[in-house]
Amino acid sequence: MPTKSPAKSATRGSQPMLHQKGTQIQEFGTVRQLPVGLSHDARMYSCERLNQCLADSQILYSLYKKHHWLMRGPTFYQLHLLLDKHAGEQLELIDTIAERVQTLGGVAIGDPRHVAEITVIPRPPDGVEEVPAMISRLLEAHEAILVAAHDAAKRADEMGDDGTNDLLVSDVIRTGELQAWFLAEHLVDTPLVES
Ligand SMILES: [Fe+2]
Repeated sequence: MPTKSPAKSATRGSQPMLHQKGTQIQEFGTVRQLPVGLSHDARMYSCERLNQCLADSQILYSLYKKHHWLMRGPTFYQLHLLLDKHAGEQLELIDTIAERVQTLGGVAIGDPRHVAEITVIPRPPDGVEEVPAMISRLLEAHEAILVAAHDAAKRADEMGDDGTNDLLVSDVIRTGELQAWFLAEHLVDTPLVES
């Protein structure tokens, strides 16, 4: 049996093979066949709706961070903390949605430039808006996601995709509704001391 030269063996064993390029092994918008008991059509449909929700949720997460940083005024501290808490919850949700897409054999949308191409959430100004406008903007983003999630959950249920229905109802809708409530209470013009 031929023996390897020690120098060659050491080079192969420890040198990273850098600057590798390759072709795509799965295109965006396709699903692989995985043995999860769901039809190709159901998995394709769910992945498309989940990817839209994923893109919009990534934008919502970014809006939360933007407004967490840019917050102003007498309610700065509570809103600064609240928006960061909501951002953290959205980030968890994003991971859950993305991994559902992968579970169904799809390709989760990940690059922010791709996200920007397909999101339906309007782009905010690059500067700073007044505080009520920041909160309204977040609420409108929540509502757009919620309206789509209700419809997608119903359609996923009709196609037999119980897992996607459950994720949309239990995670996306419930989290979004709760966060919208906490935000909306900051737009109520109520006396603080005297009525
Ligand atoms: Fe922070």
